Amino acid sequence: MTEAPIHPLWLRLTHWLNALAVLVMVGSGWQIYNATPLFGFRFDRAITLGGWLAGGIQWHFAAMWLLAGNGVVYLLCNIGSGRLWRKFFPLSPRALLADLGAALRGHMSHADLHRYNSVQRAAYLFVMVDSILLVLSGLVLWKSVQFPLLRELLGGYEAARRVHFFAMAGLVGFVAVHLVMVALVPRTLLAMLRGR
Ligand code: HEM
Repeated sequence: MTEAPIHPLWLRLTHWLNALAVLVMVGSGWQIYNATPLFGFRFDRAITLGGWLAGGIQWHFAAMWLLAGNGVVYLLCNIGSGRLWRKFFPLSPRALLADLGAALRGHMSHADLHRYNSVQRAAYLFVMVDSILLVLSGLVLWKSVQFPLLRELLGGYEAARRVHFFAMAGLVGFVAVHLVMVALVPRTLLAMLRGR
């Protein structure tokens, strides 16, 4: 009998489609930001996508369907299969601090790839919630008149721009740490590619 994979096929597919969507959304988002910067800086052209404002908007609007649709499939499969509760809970502040302390001292608990430690659980839950916030604030920026309740919940259009920006910064921060962790424990990458 073949052993159940560490990461089921649907998870690996949605993970890699998500990574592609995030890359396009961030690069094109920085292009759009550069046209009317919220803060006193612009992103270097070399790390933006689309060439100019309209090009950036086209990439952003194309990839948003992939990001949102793929995210809904991931969440439905994760919740429907009971995997969300199994993999990411329980999660207590005490366990989180203990695992964080161990990780900072270089003792990462990665022995069993079937289990996420508390730092991984918290980081992955954070990026799920953060991505939902990115999509919701993006909806307000895209169709502010059609989503008045959402707009007011986020504090109005201008506040939604800031929410969108800081949620992007949170996502980029997550990805940076995520890539360092993958580089430190490369066998996790094999599992996310091949399932085992
Ligand atoms: C670009 C945006 C990315 C996001 C938002 C993201 C998000 C996530 C999330 C939420 C998980 C946990 C999934 C679950 O078990 O349900 C995960 C796992 C994983 N991701 Fe990513 N990821 C991204 C990019 C990448 C990239 C570029 C790589 C590799 C080069 C990568 C490698 C992995 C690996 C190896 C795991 C399994 C980690 C482990 O077993 O500890 N991810 N990712």
